[in-house]
Amino acid sequence: MKHHLDGMILENKALSTDIYKIRLSLTTETDLNLQPGQFVMLSCPGSMPVYLKRPFCVYDFKENEITIVYRVIGKGTQNLSQLKPGMKLDLVLPCGQPFKLEPEGNILMIGGGLGTAPLHYLCQQALALNPSRTIYFYYGTTWLHEKIPLAFEDHEAVKFFYHSDYINGDYTRHLFDFFSINLPPVPIAHIYVCGPVVLMKAVAQWAIARSIPLQASLEQPMACGTGSCLGCSIPTHQGLKTVCHEGPVFDGHEILWEEIS
Ligand SMILES: Cc1cc2nc3c(=O)[nH]c(=O)nc-3n(C[C@H](O)[C@H](O)[C@H](O)COP(=O)(O)OP(=O)(O)OC[C@H]3O[C@@H](n4cnc5c(N)ncnc54)[C@H](O)[C@@H]3O)c2cc1C
Ligand code: FES
Repeated sequence: MKHHLDGMILENKALSTDIYKIRLSLTTETDLNLQPGQFVMLSCPGSMPVYLKRPFCVYDFKENEITIVYRVIGKGTQNLSQLKPGMKLDLVLPCGQPFKLEPEGNILMIGGGLGTAPLHYLCQQALALNPSRTIYFYYGTTWLHEKIPLAFEDHEAVKFFYHSDYINGDYTRHLFDFFSINLPPVPIAHIYVCGPVVLMKAVAQWAIARSIPLQASLEQPMACGTGSCLGCSIPTHQGLKTVCHEGPVFDGHEILWEEIS
């Protein structure tokens, strides 16, 4: 069941030139049960008129405090970046289908850019569920200054790899190429990916060739956010599916990747 709530801003700070972290306290007595992979619809009030709420993944959630990491790309996120602690926003949550976290087996997580945000929350839940397995976490950004902090970078159960496409202004390689030459040395039971489509396609091809279960979190521009307008649909082997209602997390083996750009 979705809840319509007020969230009070506790913190809203720049992590780099156009990437911000916002932390909100949610006023509710209800157990929100917000799971990794699910997203929230957030109002973005401010000087520029924005009528529709915007979707954002959950970077962290505990004790009714939610943290989102966002990039300023248009009116809504520009408004959001100007808001101050103490101000209130409207939220709708939890939205969409979460990642399914398997209790056993080594995990591979690959996050490109801000696609790492939902994997941040997922990885923390995975560590809490089973701290004795290994999580191979590959995180890449285009530029070094876009790297966001991840709580588990030094955790003993996490083999953490970071890659920046550009170093000192020179292009090196994409995250998937970096991954291909730094493969996990052990069998992987589950793969989770979120990031640019080009990255997810490469990971899907790799996982499908090896028959490894893959869960991918997709992004599409959204309007209703409730599964009614069909504007966020993507092609799958079972026909069109809405990212906002049937996703954003999908079985990566079911998506028709060649038809997505
Ligand atoms: C399920 C889901 C989770 C998301 N999680 C995050 C997150 O954790 N952090 C984050 O920074 N962003 C996230 N996004 C993207 C975020 O919703 C958009 O950046 C935001 O809605 C832009 O609002 P705006 O008013 O600033 O830009 P707009 O003025 O609405 O758009 C500016 C430009 O960006 C394009 N655009 C808008 N949304 C998207 C999109 N989803 N994909 C590609 N292009 C888009 C528009 O077509 C336009 O060209 C997520 C999107 C989805 C669907
Ligand atoms: S945004 Fe309307 S169906 Fe997904």
